[in-house]
Amino acid sequence: MEGRSLAMVTGAASGIGRAAAELFARNGYDVAVMDIAEAVQETAAAAEAEGAACHSARGDVAEEKDVASFVHDVADRFGRIDVLVNNAGVVLVKPVEEIGVDEFRRVVNINLGGIFLFCKHVVPVMKGQRAGAIVNMGSVSGHVGQVDHSVYGASKGAVISFTRAIAWELAPHGIRVNSLSPGSVDTPMLRGDIDIESRRTGLPYEEVKKMREAEQAFKRWASPLEIAEAVYFLASEKASFITGADLLVDCGWVAK
Ligand SMILES: NC(=O)c1ccc[n+]([C@@H]2O[C@H](COP(=O)([O-])OP(=O)(O)OC[C@H]3O[C@@H](n4cnc5c(N)ncnc54)[C@H](O)[C@@H]3O)[C@@H](O)[C@H]2O)c1
Repeated sequence: MEGRSLAMVTGAASGIGRAAAELFARNGYDVAVMDIAEAVQETAAAAEAEGAACHSARGDVAEEKDVASFVHDVADRFGRIDVLVNNAGVVLVKPVEEIGVDEFRRVVNINLGGIFLFCKHVVPVMKGQRAGAIVNMGSVSGHVGQVDHSVYGASKGAVISFTRAIAWELAPHGIRVNSLSPGSVDTPMLRGDIDIESRRTGLPYEEVKKMREAEQAFKRWASPLEIAEAVYFLASEKASFITGADLLVDCGWVAK
């Protein structure tokens, strides 16, 4: 296995994270996947079926002890971490006055805190290699005002700002850091989001889905693989002059 690169992906049990882990494996990377959900084992099995060596663990990205032990185990086993994809995230769809302080803290601790913790523990390994690429998951919600998405959108806006700062901090060490902001992607997260909106408004699920599809210029949602391909590009040598950027993969939503 010597000479193979290692890609670490958080939130890899489902949706975009799973598609990204499988794509890295298909392209010759070994992979390390962490998720709070049991199904992370299914992603590991799929990556192994692509020929990758895979390290998987259940853990909470918002808990420093989980992050530290996962990163330590991966660095110990593979001796390097070439790519970090900070993908794990949760959404919260509620009017601001109904959001509990615990809900606020949970969204911020996972969406921003998880990225901070993974960078904190992976950066020393990348500095030792004098190379590495980090991709943090933002969202169109970090760019545009979306009704009932105040805390979620703020957490994603913070991801984009955090990315810009550490891109400058880590450039002298040969480490590139970018964020990626998807539009609507067909995953369990988005389907859950539509379900909540449908119950709140009393509109049928399919009608709400059509309204959300209309926000994309091609009037459809992305597949998880379409986002994973953009993650893969940002992490690859083809993006060697890109750091501190936010790549919108939103089918024109923000351009309107
Ligand atoms: N689906 C979309 O339309 C969309 C749009 C913009 C941004 N995003 C972002 O993309 C990322 C992936 O979302 P997705 O749509 O694939 O959703 P998803 O719900 O399918 O996957 C998210 C994964 O993160 C995991 N996760 C959640 N909290 C965790 C924690 N504390 N520790 C470890 N793992 C945790 C979940 O178990 C799940 O497997 C998220 O950051 C999300 O905010 C999604």
